[in-house]
Amino acid sequence: MSIISPQIIEDIKARNDIEHVVSSYITLKRAGSNYNGSCPFHSERTPSFTVFPSTQSFYCFGCGAGGDAITFVMRMENLDYITAVRTLAERSGVTIPESFSSNTNENDVSRQRVLEMNKEAARFFRNALFDTKYGKEAMDYLVNKRKLSTSVIKHFGLGFAPNSFGALHDHLKKLGYSDNEMVTAFLCGKGKNNTAYDYFRNRIMFPIIDVSGNVVAFGGRVMDNSEPKYLNTSDTPAFKKSKNLFALNYAKNHCENTMILCEGYMDVISLHAAGFENAVATLGTAITSEQARIFSRYTKKVVISYDSDQAGQRAADKAFKLLQEVGVDVKILKMEGAKDPDEYIKKFGAAKFNAIIDSSKTRFEFEMDKIISKYNINNVDEKVKASHELCKVIASFSSEIERELYSRKMSTFFDIPLSSIQKDVASIIRKRIREDKSRQQSELYRITSGIGDRVNPESASNIRANKIEEAIIGLMLLKVELLKECCDRLTQENFVTPFCKKVFESISSVYKEFGKFDIGYIQDEFTIEQISRITKMLAERERLSVNDKTTLDNLINSLTSESVKKEDSDSFDDILDAIKNKKRN
Ligand code: GTP
Ligand code: MN
Repeated sequence: MSIISPQIIEDIKARNDIEHVVSSYITLKRAGSNYNGSCPFHSERTPSFTVFPSTQSFYCFGCGAGGDAITFVMRMENLDYITAVRTLAERSGVTIPESFSSNTNENDVSRQRVLEMNKEAARFFRNALFDTKYGKEAMDYLVNKRKLSTSVIKHFGLGFAPNSFGALHDHLKKLGYSDNEMVTAFLCGKGKNNTAYDYFRNRIMFPIIDVSGNVVAFGGRVMDNSEPKYLNTSDTPAFKKSKNLFALNYAKNHCENTMILCEGYMDVISLHAAGFENAVATLGTAITSEQARIFSRYTKKVVISYDSDQAGQRAADKAFKLLQEVGVDVKILKMEGAKDPDEYIKKFGAAKFNAIIDSSKTRFEFEMDKIISKYNINNVDEKVKASHELCKVIASFSSEIERELYSRKMSTFFDIPLSSIQKDVASIIRKRIREDKSRQQSELYRITSGIGDRVNPESASNIRANKIEEAIIGLMLLKVELLKECCDRLTQENFVTPFCKKVFESISSVYKEFGKFDIGYIQDEFTIEQISRITKMLAERERLSVNDKTTLDNLINSLTSESVKKEDSDSFDDILDAIKNKKRN
């Protein structure tokens, strides 16, 4: 059972309605008594993410993520269970005793410890940079070579990691941090004799700071041309690369209308120094869908400002797609005469940069330019290829108005009748929908047949029994009177797969103690994937209208009859049909 008392969980959940918690992150639309939205945990064209106010739960029928308000915050913010509970508690003014720590295992290093360590490390790096003995060369590089002022250096908390294998390690040791903690925080690596050594050496240090002001990670750059140019913190309990953006802590206050997305830390720093405080960068990787969603939370429009080389332009393609999917207005900068924004600003100045921001291109213009420069459209064969590529681009816009306007532009430019373009675009869209559907179906087949099921590996060899036990658990979670019925009539032994046995055991022991149940009580006994599966059982029931005592009786009879344990050809649908027919008679 949860180490936080059920009363507190209940109190927190009562003050944090799932609809409100979820809609502070994504837009929900009412659908009957539930709400629908675009799933924040995977990319999708049609919304399959559902919030069920009656059971205070959510479930995505597309990717299978599910849970309650606490699980939702865990997933969204990448937090452990206790921290998510604390976050919701703070937001709603509930106090929870300090003594609850997120650590259940001595070897687990908590997010809090990593954050404290990072703060100490950032202080250490900054002091080293400003120390004339250690940091002279680094300061010289930043000021003279990169033309940064002292105030900009301080603003971004830049630092220097001395050229030593133990300077930071010894410093942190003195402050009471263990080798294990330093390695987990990615500040140290582990050597041959299990000794910890400083990971960042002789590098300019860029702290990555989250929107709450925590130092969550570092990037470290060499001062010459050696490789690798950057070392970055890998994922730690306090940090996920794919969910953070460099300089968002500052940009968040200047980005209501527009944000600028760059590739490099140095680009962002130069832009901020020149007055473009709405610039951010990803952390050494291509943009992810999670990062795209961050943009959609903060701004209406993103200007992609990637390097002008081929790699940069290819990366821009992906950024365009992901940002468009989350519904922000996306434009791309056309930068000539400089390789990146940092160089551009230094060469041409802020006013010129502002001008190219104003004349940045839409995705359609960008793609059309690219296609036109790739093909010779005076040659018929090449013109066919070019047209087909451009039709594909047009088909990828979800707005019909956009598709119509771009089709007209293309018609004029390529001198092709509008109706032909419209037909081609429509056929590409139909084909994509077919492909989406078949992908979803095979995914659903994979899930329902238990192939590759990590949460409940035994489901595959007990398909029928598993469906019945899942239906029963779903009903237990749906209505308290059915929960009581199940706890009175069933024991763990009646369940077939070990996973469902464990779920039943957890639910019924909570019910026996408290006379009620909430998924929040058992969340720290299960992984986030397991919670999703349990929620799926509930969500499947929410979709059906036959959730009465007769349904449960029939399911219990099936589960407790001996034959259910032997797999036979009866499908679950037959059982459901039988139940439905009985009801009608
Ligand atoms: P300057 O060369 O100093 O202008 O740096 P920059 O920040 O503009 O870097 P660049 O455009 O070369 O790369 C863009 C971003 O990719 C960097 O800010 C890093 O986040 C990341 N990056 C670049 N090189 C490496 C590398 O060698 N390893 C890793 N992990 N990331 C890198
Ligand atoms: Mn650069």
